[in-house]
Amino acid sequence: MTAPHAADPTTDPARRAEARSRLDHLCARGTRFLGSEYALLAGAMSWVSERNLVSAISNAGGFGVLACGAMEPERLAEEIAATQALTSRPFGVNLITMHPRLDDLVRVCLDAGVSHVVLAGGIPSGPVIRAIKEGGAKAIGFAPALVLAKRLIRLGIDALVIEGSEAGGHVGPVSLTVLAQEILPHIHDVPVFVAGGLGRGDAILSYLELGASGAQLGTRFAASRESIAHERFKKAFLRANARDAVTSVQLDERFPVIPVRGLSNAGTRRFLEHQAETLRRFQAGELTKEAAQLDIEHFWAGSLRRAVIEGDVENGSVMAGQSVGMITSEQPVSEIINELVDQAIDALIRQEERARHG
Ligand SMILES: Cc1cc2nc3c(=O)[nH]c(=O)nc-3n(C[C@H](O)[C@H](O)[C@H](O)COP(=O)(O)O)c2cc1C
Repeated sequence: MTAPHAADPTTDPARRAEARSRLDHLCARGTRFLGSEYALLAGAMSWVSERNLVSAISNAGGFGVLACGAMEPERLAEEIAATQALTSRPFGVNLITMHPRLDDLVRVCLDAGVSHVVLAGGIPSGPVIRAIKEGGAKAIGFAPALVLAKRLIRLGIDALVIEGSEAGGHVGPVSLTVLAQEILPHIHDVPVFVAGGLGRGDAILSYLELGASGAQLGTRFAASRESIAHERFKKAFLRANARDAVTSVQLDERFPVIPVRGLSNAGTRRFLEHQAETLRRFQAGELTKEAAQLDIEHFWAGSLRRAVIEGDVENGSVMAGQSVGMITSEQPVSEIINELVDQAIDALIRQEERARHG
């Protein structure tokens, strides 16, 4: 006779409640800081992170972040007000530090009572961080290395995001696996949120156990039901494997290309040809170095909008992280969040089982 199977411990409601409270404990610093139920930020995505997606994420217990991108202050004020009309829960606003009207954008956020401002696209200045804090909001910055994390803390930053090169969009050169080991053991003054390549709750749990206060995801939410991204953009996400989300290639070190991770398509292939042709024109004396650099930088102008809004996924920039391979259907935001939480709870119960029974 075969022994009856022991009941699956992950289905035991008492065990789940116990694991959930341990998870809440691990996330407590993050949820306190964000004012949300879960320490899960949805990273801002230009054109994607607008009122509908951001409010859906905050309403589902996560923390949505509006992408300001190149918006002018008046347009940002409108988007913040529209988001506030859709949720009474906290959400953040992501500002790009090189925006020519950064100070005005900060003022718009403060006047609207935005609780958290995320500063992306470089190390922000001390006065900008001060202005945010003196206005009553919290300032969040990106730390691509330990020295920069320490510098941001000296400048008064309230929390950090460490984003690995697995992420979608503009990326640094170092993976989250390495950044987390470099930074998490040494930074205790402020909460640190991990980002890049995260698609499952058990993986997020492993970073919480290393000392992270929470996690930031982008790619999975870009393909959610509430995302306004074009159907063809979402379909491209459903079809793609991790290996399809590649970083843009730089052809010549004299002409730097900021690495952007996205799905390879006709646009990424033409970008290489465009660089080669620009290089040829520079070498033939037809273009100055500055003109050649600008020509390369302008190649992608407007291309994220073309992919996200117009659905041109062949020529546009289909920014996506390597976690794109884990997306198998267009799920509502609340389902994605619940799934991540459930996977973390399952993992905690299994850990405890291993500790009990070996
Ligand atoms: C389509 C897309 C657009 C993005 N745009 C921005 C942006 O405007 N500003 C920013 O700080 N990060 C941007 N990101 C990065 C996300 O905020 C987030 O940090 C990243 O997606 C997390 O990694 P994951 O893609 O592996 O989940 C973008 C990512 C994607 C996929």
